[in-house]
Amino acid sequence: MEDILQQIEDYKKEISAAELDNADKLEAFRIRFLGAKGVVKNLMGSMKDIPAENRKSFGLILNGFKQLAEEKYEAVKELSSNGKPSSVPLVDYSLPGDPIGVGSRHPITLMRNRIVSIFQRLGFAVAEGPEIEDDWHNFTALNLDENHPARDMQDTFYLSKNPDWLLRTHTSNVQIREMEKGKLPIRIICPGRVYRNETVSARSHCFFHQVEGLYIAEEVSFADLKQTLYFFVKEMFGEDIRIRFRPSYFPFTEPSAEMDISCLLCGGEGCAVCKRTGWLEILGCGMVHPKVLENCNIDPEKYSGFAFGMGIERPALLKYGITDIRLFSENDVRFLRQFTAAN
Ligand code: DAH
Repeated sequence: MEDILQQIEDYKKEISAAELDNADKLEAFRIRFLGAKGVVKNLMGSMKDIPAENRKSFGLILNGFKQLAEEKYEAVKELSSNGKPSSVPLVDYSLPGDPIGVGSRHPITLMRNRIVSIFQRLGFAVAEGPEIEDDWHNFTALNLDENHPARDMQDTFYLSKNPDWLLRTHTSNVQIREMEKGKLPIRIICPGRVYRNETVSARSHCFFHQVEGLYIAEEVSFADLKQTLYFFVKEMFGEDIRIRFRPSYFPFTEPSAEMDISCLLCGGEGCAVCKRTGWLEILGCGMVHPKVLENCNIDPEKYSGFAFGMGIERPALLKYGITDIRLFSENDVRFLRQFTAAN
């Protein structure tokens, strides 16, 4: 009896190690263990040799073993399409795979990519700069003098460790960093995050995004600036868009202007979004101030250039009909998964 029990243990090991990964192997398994001349039948036959007093316990062990073999067989058979012997693998490769969830891009990223790709087609290269900046690159080199209100603690986040360091308040710092490299001409587009110490509300946030543009070469004119921006808004908002320039003031450009586009919602008729004016302000721009060029060792007699800067949140709000800027940074997937490159 001991021999038979040892044999059963060996069979058990064989069953658990059996790799039934195709229908032929499964059928061979059935014949070996469960067939008319198989292992189970054979063991049943040895019952008569077992002493009467042990027969009951042996019967239990044998039944357990039979169940083990049957369960393994049935479980694998269920996995195969019909259980018929064939050499086709039991894995059904025609079944659809487990779907891998693809995320969606953030609406600010989508808008940034759209803006950048339009300028890239005009030959602008992407440049980036640091978000933690020094006073020179964020203010002084851009001709913002010491008493300029933008430097006020009310507007700018300064780093407590070193008051010369701050979180950049605009992407114009990248202009300076590029010009300082001393390679001309320059034709860059600079997307990035900026920070201002403002009360967070539905309309404003303490951080937001901008895209800066800069073109420096010989004989760059205001007409170049106008045509570049006109091309941009037509690509962005459609052929029917109209633009207007209003004189403005920025310390780093002279002359300076702000550019409006005809209201995307009412087409210029006047509505609540454009405050009945028919126009939406979308960017600031101008000819780079000679002092700024000098600050970066560029000869203003030889070179001229234009610059512009625009927010990304505003056009994204308009495009997607979003009414609260805080939604952009709340990481609510119900909000975020609504956006695709197509919409
Ligand atoms: N830096 C300005 C701002 O944050 C935007 C700006 C205006 C950028 C005019 C420019 C420019 O390059 O020429 O409001």
